Amino acid sequence: METLEAIKKRVSTRKFLKKQIKEKDLKIILEAGKQAPVAYNKYSDLLITVVQNKELLNEIDRLCDEYYGADTMVFFNAPTLIFVSSKNAKYDQEYENVACIMENMALAATDINVGNVYLKGMTLHIEEKTLSNLLNLPEDFRAIAALGVGYADGELKPKVHDLKIERL
Ligand SMILES: Cc1cc2nc3c(=O)[nH]c(=O)nc-3n(C[C@H](O)[C@H](O)[C@H](O)COP(=O)(O)O)c2cc1C
Repeated sequence: METLEAIKKRVSTRKFLKKQIKEKDLKIILEAGKQAPVAYNKYSDLLITVVQNKELLNEIDRLCDEYYGADTMVFFNAPTLIFVSSKNAKYDQEYENVACIMENMALAATDINVGNVYLKGMTLHIEEKTLSNLLNLPEDFRAIAALGVGYADGELKPKVHDLKIERL
């Protein structure tokens, strides 16, 4: 797929097949994440954590349900969650770094027909220390977002976004 085609086709997937993604697909997505631009070249302040372990996924799901007091399906049963964490996430810049990595991975996933969804909720609803421990994050790192990936159950049409563009 051409880059512009992948950009046009990207859409949030919220219904996944149970089947795990192929290792070669995961590698392509992770490599794209690594290619993202990062302020001051500080790649060592960032960490990508792939979660495929069922017990861990269930625990993340349980903690989110606990927060909401309901069965929330917060990551839509995506078989893989790719968390992106940053050290000392205090300034906008750290969040922007994470967003660049996330979008690169989302576009790469789209390119190879792997469904994906940008997930912020989990990192807000699970207590920071609890999530850091679950993800085995180094000291001072914090999970900022996760990309849920898996093969989509059904075909999705990209949306038309109401984003204004002004020209001066
Ligand atoms: C920073 C950020 C946080 C998001 N968090 C969530 C989330 O927690 N759960 C979710 O289902 N979608 C989440 N999304 C996806 C947006 O809802 C989605 O991109 C938007 O509605 C546009 O739809 P589209 O991605 O299908 O084009 C997030 C997107 C971004 C960029």
